[in-house]
Amino acid sequence: MKKPGRNDACWCGSGKKYKKCHIDFDERMEEIEAQGHIIPDHSLIKNKEQIEKIKESAKINIAVLDYVSKHIRAGISTAEIDRWVYEQTVKMGGVPAPLNYQGFPKSVCTSINNEICHGIPSEDIILKDGDIVNVDCSTNLNGYFSDSSRMFCIGEVSDDRKKLVEAAKQALEVGLKQVRPWGFLGDMGQAINDFIKSKGYSVVREVGGHGIGLEFHEDPWVSYVSTKGTEMLMVPGFMFTIEPMINMGKPDLYTDEENGWTLYTKDGLPSAQWEIQVLVTEDGYEIISY
Ligand code: MF3
Ligand code: CO
Repeated sequence: MKKPGRNDACWCGSGKKYKKCHIDFDERMEEIEAQGHIIPDHSLIKNKEQIEKIKESAKINIAVLDYVSKHIRAGISTAEIDRWVYEQTVKMGGVPAPLNYQGFPKSVCTSINNEICHGIPSEDIILKDGDIVNVDCSTNLNGYFSDSSRMFCIGEVSDDRKKLVEAAKQALEVGLKQVRPWGFLGDMGQAINDFIKSKGYSVVREVGGHGIGLEFHEDPWVSYVSTKGTEMLMVPGFMFTIEPMINMGKPDLYTDEENGWTLYTKDGLPSAQWEIQVLVTEDGYEIISY
């Protein structure tokens, strides 16, 4: 950890002297690191100004998802959702973060039924009665990023699918209860995994969440099958997503060979996911995008 001199400006950009700002904070992190834990780099800790700008980005992201909630229905194609997301995001001054991200061809991910995540919108995919679909929106506003996703039940959905969707949403609440400064990401991961197992479902292991804010995907990679007291330390100003993918059956998956993006459940059973973006605060957390 690189530290300024006591009388130099703090690394956080507050303009205050280090000794009046993050000096105790750094000492506390170092003690925890000495006990063998993983601590976040200073570059992952957001200051007030950055948080304000990320919240502006999230305002757009939330509004776009609200727009989708209002208009989604049986009979439309997922390409239609992609157009809504593109148009609404751009209208509000943002850019959809997925567009051209590592070659991703569309503005949003739309993942239906047995698709776990990274479904690519298409004119050929038409939403039908009984489908469950995840719409995953991410916004870049002037280099500040937001990311959240919601599930939608199309028309009459079977009880077992509804329950899966509900459990995936409840998993966020269960995880949030573990988000606090000086706790560990593993506290959250274990709580979510224990909860999902108790429902008879499984949590996907290979894909997880991520740090976010100044980049679309920042360190760390976040697992939801981790162990209490392990993984990265959470500190005020640290921001990440909670987005466990919940399978009705087994956790195993495979990747679409043609598009290289979409992940499917190996057993063909449905999968559900909700995603929120969370900031760790001095006394707990704040939800930034949902
Ligand atoms: N929103 C997805 C996530 O939660 C983004 C996947 S990358 C994309 O990380 F290119 F597919 F959009
Ligand atoms: Co995400």
